[in-house]
Amino acid sequence: MIGIIGAMEIEVENLISVMTDRNSETISGIVFYMGKIENTNCVVAKCGVGKVAAAVCAQTMILKYGTDALINVGVAGGIGKEIHIGDIVVSTGLVQHDMDTTALGDEKGLISGLNLVTIPASKRLSYLVAATAQNIYGKGVHTGIIATGDQFIGDVGTLNKIAEEFGASACEMEGGSIAQVCYMNQIEFVVIRAISDNANEAAKVDFPTFAASSARKSAELIRKVLPNI
Ligand code: ADE
Repeated sequence: MIGIIGAMEIEVENLISVMTDRNSETISGIVFYMGKIENTNCVVAKCGVGKVAAAVCAQTMILKYGTDALINVGVAGGIGKEIHIGDIVVSTGLVQHDMDTTALGDEKGLISGLNLVTIPASKRLSYLVAATAQNIYGKGVHTGIIATGDQFIGDVGTLNKIAEEFGASACEMEGGSIAQVCYMNQIEFVVIRAISDNANEAAKVDFPTFAASSARKSAELIRKVLPNI
């Protein structure tokens, strides 16, 4: 059973609409859709924005539906000159850029419970997703660190700080939380994000303009990956 989590409706609606043998149930206000996508057993949910909502959803999927792997799908702000709107970023690892116990002498982003800054994504899933994306799109496919925090990034100052501190290729608001839940439960995960903006001052215009088309692109990629998972 594969769990697929998106924060917003636009990030999961295409996946839910193509599901066959569909059932649903609501837990903690989150609607979980169970069924088959491309003949693969899946549970799909819109978790809501941010790390807490994502963690509740991920842990529920693992406990209630026995998911073997979680995929976080959706859009992100691109970091770096070579990452463009519409590109795909597949996670090699996740950081929580707003985790900060540096006042105690820790490294920025250290998740002390795990003693890790970067939570590694499943190499198998990252490779599979990146190779599939490369086959479909040819260019504009990147692998790298994705940085998560409870913050929409829309200024170059904050963006540069995240780039320098973590070497991240994209920023978003859920992946690092889902990664932590998967790490704690020892299950595989990967984060697939299509770029909706460049997390700079133009993001407040770019995000509403490009989020829906980029979200569709990342959902389309998942559909191509699922039969080979
Ligand atoms: N998701 C899409 N764009 C984002 C941004 N700039 N910051 C955080 N999350 C995002």
